[in-house]
Amino acid sequence: EQIEKGGYEHFMLKEIFEQPKSVHDTMRGRLLLDEGVIKMAGIWDHVERFKNANRIIIIACGTSWHAGLIGEYLIEEYARIPVEVEYASEFRYRNPIITDKDVVIAISQSGETADTMAALKLAKEKGAFIYGICNVVDSSIARITDAGSYTHAGPEIGVASTKAFTAQLTILTLIAFKLGKHNGNLGNAEFMSLIAELDAIPKKIEEVLNTTHELTQNIAKDFVKATNFLYLGRGYNYPAALEGALKLKEISYIHAEGYPAAEMKHGPIALIDENMPIVIIAPKKGHYDKIVSNVQEIKARKGKIIAVVNKGDRQVSEMADYVIEIPETSECFSPIVASVPLQLLAYYIAVYRGANVDQPRNLAKSVTVE
Ligand code: G6P
Repeated sequence: EQIEKGGYEHFMLKEIFEQPKSVHDTMRGRLLLDEGVIKMAGIWDHVERFKNANRIIIIACGTSWHAGLIGEYLIEEYARIPVEVEYASEFRYRNPIITDKDVVIAISQSGETADTMAALKLAKEKGAFIYGICNVVDSSIARITDAGSYTHAGPEIGVASTKAFTAQLTILTLIAFKLGKHNGNLGNAEFMSLIAELDAIPKKIEEVLNTTHELTQNIAKDFVKATNFLYLGRGYNYPAALEGALKLKEISYIHAEGYPAAEMKHGPIALIDENMPIVIIAPKKGHYDKIVSNVQEIKARKGKIIAVVNKGDRQVSEMADYVIEIPETSECFSPIVASVPLQLLAYYIAVYRGANVDQPRNLAKSVTVE
């Protein structure tokens, strides 16, 4: 096991550090920058099915569901196809309306999650075209879907998903760009500039790992005794906030809630005092001015602000107690880059609390029963 961990103390840390490679592997053979194309047989062979879909329904559980939410933002923005995202466990029992004009995308790291499998079977029975985004090759979900794309992130051992999540985001990005290009919603110049930026994301992840590894350890030390955390983001980074909160609760057992920053005023703001740590994801591109006013509201209530901002940021950084800098990207890529320091922060808080990071209590890597 020590050898498999490659010198890292836990699989989770190893997997966090593998992300420059895993994201690159997910794009390998698919993103052909020189030719200016995205090659994805699973999508291309059924492109008319996607193009003519009434809507796309994404079903998943846990971290994969968070990836699905970002998939909704991506596909609606770039391909202009309506998307709904559902928890598999809700979808399967609520008698949903599904027709043969729907495309259902299941996202599952393991490809074995019982609820996701059951929801897919239901969609298939009703005639929907079913597409899988799985990490484990030849898994049950990969086998029952009509088509799909593997994430190729490599085996993920840590129960808390990290590299599988960023690989899922990478696949969803490729799908959104591919469909958008095909159906004419994404013009050639924008497509070219987006794929060039996507191609450089592994390098940005590498940079974030280098610049935030020590920093997140130092921040973590100050929050070992925390009992609650709030994670806030807007737009693409609202689901990134949900995922940041999930990482923390899974492995550190600290109660954490993710929220869209603007919804804070409808509830969570009542919780804010000098003891409440609030992680706020505030990159330049993506409702920055709105986030600034959310941060002012938190500051006025003396919340402890941990801000994830772009390099050189001033406004949010001046109000924050802790600043984590990430490189600037287009908004659609920011959840990939912003998630990395949040994974590290959750990891180190859990380690300093003496928790079993790779195998947290009560959780399973793959939930094959209901
Ligand atoms: C479990 C795991 C999570 C995972 C979820 C969905 O709860 O602990 O990390 O996100 O299942 O799993 P899947 O394999 O379908 O992505």
